Amino acid sequence: MLKGKNLIDLDEFTTDEIDEIIQLSQKIARNPDEYHGIAKGKILAALFYEPSTRTRLSFEAAMLRLGGQVIGFSNPSASSVSKGESLSDTLRTVNAYADIIAMRHPKEGAPRVGAKYIDIPIINAGDGGHQHPTQTLTDILTITSVKKRLSGLTIGLCGDLKFGRTVHSLIKTLSRYPENKFILVSPQELKIPQYIKSQVLQKKNIEFAEAEKLEDVIQDMDILYMTRVQRERFFNEEDYIRLKDSYILDKQKMSLAKDDMIVLHPLPRVNEIAYEVDEDSRALYFDQVKYGMYVRMGLMAKLLGVK
Ligand code: CP
Repeated sequence: MLKGKNLIDLDEFTTDEIDEIIQLSQKIARNPDEYHGIAKGKILAALFYEPSTRTRLSFEAAMLRLGGQVIGFSNPSASSVSKGESLSDTLRTVNAYADIIAMRHPKEGAPRVGAKYIDIPIINAGDGGHQHPTQTLTDILTITSVKKRLSGLTIGLCGDLKFGRTVHSLIKTLSRYPENKFILVSPQELKIPQYIKSQVLQKKNIEFAEAEKLEDVIQDMDILYMTRVQRERFFNEEDYIRLKDSYILDKQKMSLAKDDMIVLHPLPRVNEIAYEVDEDSRALYFDQVKYGMYVRMGLMAKLLGVK
């Protein structure tokens, strides 16, 4: 039963519940007009304490397409947060106005703490370098739409695997499905956090390899998930500048990949995918953007319990 649930971390959802959201989102993606109006009278509060293009706008577009309305802020300095209001007081206030909250916050764990003060569903739209569960739902909806399965895949993840919250959520979720393998491509300084290795991959006996050069391993991948180096999480600019162009996917590297490998990226991209790759039919990151809206429609319909 998904009605009334929070989405803080996909770990708190069963695989059946994830599949239920994905199945509804697939139906919505096939025929979005059929779902227009099902959330009439409902209000989404989109509270973005950090910058966003896709997540905020896709949540807003999703609620508008469902027939509901949207309130919120994209810049906390324009709210009473700038006067020193606590997160709990802001959320208690919004609880009186809205039916569901989507919140992005720079502090890891902020949505979980916030959930204690409210009785409407809250969705984690990204908390610091921790988790980004709705991006993971977006990614798996995109993968199922093309590959028609979520198991038996070799998934390459490339770039900033240390700070990239989308990577952490995606590995945790795809690890639930049988016979998936992971290839983790990053510079030494941006390797996947140890807890993902020990508590997810090693604990579940999942095959994985680590590499530093993308061209050494790209030919083995069914999916290549590129990520940007997360400048905002670095302690100093020098390290960012040294590492920011560690990987640039271009036509030449794409020529080494399988014909049916797909390229995903949560976006925004900076330099890590050359614009020439956009013409390649395997580049699906702009399809992914659209699936992000459909999956947020499916998710909010389920959490609100609208039919
Ligand atoms: N993928 C993603 O989270 O993008 P935004 O930061 O633009 O929301």
